[in-house]
Amino acid sequence: MWKPPQKIRWPSGLGEIPTPDEVAKSLLFSPLNVGRLNLHARSWIPAMVPWRASNDGEVIPEVLDWYGRFAQGKPAAIVIEATGIRDVPSGPLLRIGNDSFLPGMKKLVEHVKRESGGKTKLFIQLIDFLAMKRRPPRDKYLGQFLRITPDHQQSLEMPQATEDDIRDRLLSLDDEQLEKVLTPREWQSMVNGHRDMVTDTHLPHIETLPQELPKLFSEAAVRAEQAGFDGVELHYAHAYTMASFLSATNTREDGYGGSKENRVRLPLEVFREVRSATSDDFVVGTRFLANEVIDGGSSLADACYFGTEFARAGMDFISLSRGGKFDDAKQPKLGSPAYPYTGRSGYECMPHHLSDELGPFGRNFEETKTIRETVRVAGFETPFVAAGGIHNFQIAEDVLQSGVAEIVGAARQSLADPDWFEKIRLGNMKDIRQCEFTNYCEGLDQAHKQVTCKLWDRVDLDEPGILKSFDKKRRLAAPRSYPSLTD
Ligand SMILES: Cc1cc2nc3c(=O)[nH]c(=O)nc-3n(C[C@H](O)[C@H](O)[C@H](O)COP(=O)(O)O)c2cc1C
Repeated sequence: MWKPPQKIRWPSGLGEIPTPDEVAKSLLFSPLNVGRLNLHARSWIPAMVPWRASNDGEVIPEVLDWYGRFAQGKPAAIVIEATGIRDVPSGPLLRIGNDSFLPGMKKLVEHVKRESGGKTKLFIQLIDFLAMKRRPPRDKYLGQFLRITPDHQQSLEMPQATEDDIRDRLLSLDDEQLEKVLTPREWQSMVNGHRDMVTDTHLPHIETLPQELPKLFSEAAVRAEQAGFDGVELHYAHAYTMASFLSATNTREDGYGGSKENRVRLPLEVFREVRSATSDDFVVGTRFLANEVIDGGSSLADACYFGTEFARAGMDFISLSRGGKFDDAKQPKLGSPAYPYTGRSGYECMPHHLSDELGPFGRNFEETKTIRETVRVAGFETPFVAAGGIHNFQIAEDVLQSGVAEIVGAARQSLADPDWFEKIRLGNMKDIRQCEFTNYCEGLDQAHKQVTCKLWDRVDLDEPGILKSFDKKRRLAAPRSYPSLTD
């Protein structure tokens, strides 16, 4: 992952320890309505892909084990990882693209409800993503994959040449010459691996996304409701299809790109279709980006506008994330696909403890607050979820008291210690195992390995009945109780 050149070390800490009275009166432990649903507190575990599903995208015991462990800590809400809405294979990423996934999803809901004693509300993040290829060997790309066009004949000044001659010529060029002959897009496909983009409207399956996605999302949401989820989070953030529609880099000319009004059109159409296909009690919210953190990305004013339009349309919550784009991702290794969390925008999404003067904790708060304030001024009370480096009571309560958001989302801290909210509530703050923000978990995600935390994955490996990683070297869920930090 890219890191700020300053490499200033930022240790996490417990912050100020509240008195029992302060905890009891805190906003963190006060209830809140999200849509028609009541959350018992403001504690929220945002989506985290753990690479646990079966190769067919099914819920298996490892998935239950992962979410069950978070549920034991009784957060007010858990958002199940980004789950594919299409009926197409995508490896061990959860899917909900047809009714055969329903029994597994039902089990997941029942398990979380049971493990949390009915305390935790359960949402599922619905995602659409476009096809992408692994980085090809140069000779394979130029010799086979590249579609030869008259433009290549022209720029090589070989008007009568056959396709084979053109390929031979391209293969003989050095990189500097080649970059002048290929289009920027072809060059990118060679050096990073091809990926479909929402602007590829010459491709029929991309052109028709606005016609197809509302139905795909709404059918998935209906399944989620049938499975017993309390709601869905429409994934409009990071490197995926819906975020690409919102992005200022979306130059589609069919009324779904260009101006901010056009860019928000499909996300609103998807929402309306989901809303009308599900019952009024079912929560429908979204996660989108306060800041894309890429050159030419949407402005803060754009994000304020999107937030206001989502609130106006009737979204039940708005969760804000940051960065996580393909646009500035590092070049993948040969044979690997690009990973959207390797560039600066990736850093902003999951900031590491080696940081700049701003540090890794709360980098998204200021913009979240501005977007929330804009939405409030427009007259909407939609609850906001803030995330990014939240790891102690003081930070969490500050977020809530200072008007950044109504809900605190803590992903990596909850992975480090799934009981941390409960330990605060019970006055056992010193027992909290604190995330060190070294991004060990993110490294596993990047390698498509089962995600665990380095603070506990080698602890008590001989504990009977625990599930382990494929190589048996790591446990897959945090031990039930931690030794006290003061032990
Ligand atoms: C292993 C891992 C997987 C993640 N998967 C998702 C995901 O599926 N959807 C999503 O919106 N964010 C995902 N995120 C981002 C987190 O939800 C969160 O926004 C980010 O980690 C910053 O919050 P934190 O500092 O509390 O960890 C993931 C993060 C990690 C570490």
